[in-house]
Amino acid sequence: MFLPSRTHHLGRRMIVSNASSWTAAAVRYSENGDPEKVLELTEESVSGDLGEGNVALKLLAAPVNPADINTIQGVYGIKPPLPATPGGEGLAEVLDVGTHVRNVQKGDRVIFSAPMLGTWRTYTTASATQVLKISKEIPLIAGATITINPPTAFRMLYDFVGLRKNDVIVQNAANSAVGQAVIQIAAANNWRTVNIIRDRPNKADTVQFLSSLGATHVITDADFKRKEVLQSLPKAQLGLNAVSGKAVADMVKLMNDRSTLVTYGGMSKQPLLIPTTALIFKDIICCGFWVSRWNDENSTEERIEMLDSLTSLIKDGKLKPPQVEPVLLKDFKQAIQRSQEGFSNRKQLLVMDEQIMTTVQQEIEANR
Ligand SMILES: NC(=O)c1ccc[n+]([C@@H]2O[C@H](COP(=O)([O-])OP(=O)(O)OC[C@H]3O[C@@H](n4cnc5c(N)ncnc54)[C@H](OP(=O)(O)O)[C@@H]3O)[C@@H](O)[C@H]2O)c1
Repeated sequence: MFLPSRTHHLGRRMIVSNASSWTAAAVRYSENGDPEKVLELTEESVSGDLGEGNVALKLLAAPVNPADINTIQGVYGIKPPLPATPGGEGLAEVLDVGTHVRNVQKGDRVIFSAPMLGTWRTYTTASATQVLKISKEIPLIAGATITINPPTAFRMLYDFVGLRKNDVIVQNAANSAVGQAVIQIAAANNWRTVNIIRDRPNKADTVQFLSSLGATHVITDADFKRKEVLQSLPKAQLGLNAVSGKAVADMVKLMNDRSTLVTYGGMSKQPLLIPTTALIFKDIICCGFWVSRWNDENSTEERIEMLDSLTSLIKDGKLKPPQVEPVLLKDFKQAIQRSQEGFSNRKQLLVMDEQIMTTVQQEIEANR
């Protein structure tokens, strides 16, 4: 039986728990659809009985990722049974553990090993097999955003092409969280990156920001009309596509013969548009990547090894988390709305209470 703080604030109301269960706040949807319409803030009862193998968790922070939005809409590769709480990743603190739990202990920080367990809530219980311990030396924002996007960047960079020093990667949506991780992991390995962003009013800020992370070149989709820009860029061995549509037809112009194009996202919501000539004359190899499949098909030990590599990069200051806009869980509607506005350069981060918000604000200040 675990007993975290027996009181919890949901909006302005204070909820008092009894000894065997207590009430937590959770975002929930009962039908798939527009996230701005189908989501609501609810209370839920969390059992205090952990049995042999469960852990009690206090959620600290969780981002709003495109996959969360797609899951709520019902168009993602995973369809949780309804009603469901959204949230594919997040950072939690272990409040207590069941009698046979050995992999984590009270006070540890953990992330979730299974996808779409529902992190947009204040407290929960989970099987100890569904959590992975994360070093407390990792800042809170980095911990809350380490489960999905940095591993996606890591696997795509290591698993498809044997990149050598100075080799080139070209990617679109380069200012996304995955894109930022690609830039930084590549820079740490002396691989060069050609980064494509959408043309925007604040273009210089974005170019400067990505350059500060280690981007070798940053161009916009509008630059594809400028031959002199395209001719000045090195050709890539690996292309990473998160946009699809016409953006890919442009991107393959910057790829070498027999290079590999990995598609991992479809932000334009358009089919992949690859010129026939790219397949015939350049013999470009096209494939896809989904980190959930990688997690399913590889051992926990391999996953921990990868997380250790990412954690080392974070500790060495070589892998910074994405820029975030923190929002209290109770104000989640604001975060949902902002997450769907383009050109923001910031990921919405749901923060579970005001105390954690103070830590998040301090981390943001320290990174400025
Ligand atoms: N396959 C996998 O395993 C896997 C894992 C992680 C992520 N993903 C996918 O990777 C993509 C990026 O995820 P993230 O969390 O890194 O994203 P994010 O940080 O939320 O950033 C969103 C990115 O999408 C761009 N974007 C938004 N709407 C667009 C549109 N209509 N056309 C072109 N670009 C658009 C944004 O560019 P602007 O700044 O120009 O708006 C920004 O670069 C998503 O598609 C996500 O589902 C896939």
